[in-house]
Amino acid sequence: MRHFADDQILAMIDAMLEEKPGEKICIFACNWCSYAGADLAGLSRIQYPPNGRVIRTMCSGRVDEEFIWHAFKKGAPIVLVSGCHFVDCHYIDANRWTQKRIEGMWNKLERKGIRPERLQLEWVSAAEASRWQKVMYAVEELRKKVTREEIEETQKALSKG
Ligand code: FES
Repeated sequence: MRHFADDQILAMIDAMLEEKPGEKICIFACNWCSYAGADLAGLSRIQYPPNGRVIRTMCSGRVDEEFIWHAFKKGAPIVLVSGCHFVDCHYIDANRWTQKRIEGMWNKLERKGIRPERLQLEWVSAAEASRWQKVMYAVEELRKKVTREEIEETQKALSKG
C-alpha cells in the first residue's frame, strides 16, 4: 500500500517538526475518512485548535512504527493516528492491524518510560467533522501537558535505540 515512499513521509515529518515541535500535534490521517473529516470540518468552518499538522496516508495501515518513532525523536509532543471506522476501511481490515500495531507501541512506549497517551489512535469518518473537532481539542489538551523536559527525556530514551 504505497502513495508516498517511506523517505518522503520521513521528510514530511522532519519539515513538520523543524520549528517549534513542542507546539505541534503530529497527525497521520487516512485519505478516505479522517483526512476528509478534517477537510469537512474546515469547509464547515468548525473551529478547532490550529496546531495540528496532517500527513495524509492512503490508510491508517500505512503508518509504520518507524514514522511514529521518528516523530517522537524529532520532538513531537503528541502523535495522532486516525483512520476509518472498522467497517469502512478501504483495504479490508487494515485498520484492525493498525490497532494491533498501536497497542504494541503503547507497550513499547511504556517500557521506554514514555507516556503511552502521547500516542493517540482515533477513528473518524469523512462525515464526522464535529468528531474531528472533539478529537482535536482532546489531543490539544494532552499536548499542553507535555513539557519540554519530557520531550527531551523522550529524545534521549529513543536515541539509545
Ligand atoms: Fe481508512 Fe484503512 S482506508 S483506515
